[in-house]
Amino acid sequence: MVDKEMIQEKIGEAMGLERAAQKAVQTLDSRGLLKPEHTTKLSKMKEEAGKQEEEMESIVQDLTNTDGFDSSTIEEKATETAEKASQIMQTYLGENPDTQEALEFLCLAEGGEVTHYEVLSSVAKQVKNRKFGTTVRSILKEEKRHLDLCTKLAKRNASSE
Ligand SMILES: [Fe+2]
Repeated sequence: MVDKEMIQEKIGEAMGLERAAQKAVQTLDSRGLLKPEHTTKLSKMKEEAGKQEEEMESIVQDLTNTDGFDSSTIEEKATETAEKASQIMQTYLGENPDTQEALEFLCLAEGGEVTHYEVLSSVAKQVKNRKFGTTVRSILKEEKRHLDLCTKLAKRNASSE
């Protein structure tokens, strides 16, 4: 049986995390927590996250027609998740965050994205529209690269300090 409610929720969460990750890069940068060698790579990552968000929005539009999904339910979940993720960032960074903590938070965010797209790819078979699975799998590949990039930056920064 297709668990539409659950899939909608997971799509909303993935979209919310996508937004939060973009906002996180921006916030960490404007707080001066990223070094010049980080900002080039991370702004490219942010750009890709923006594209992923657009791809997800467009597939959600398709799914309202092909699978009877409700885009406003998904959007609500996305907004809620983005807000929660911002709160988690504030809690994680605390009063006096440094570059290392900022990079490690990005690892946490990207790790969350990887997990959500893994879950979405595992339920993609339940969705009639085949484009959904293709989109999710291609984003998942990129998210793994994002996590890898953030992990490398965190490791490099820790060993250079
Ligand atoms: Fe990402």
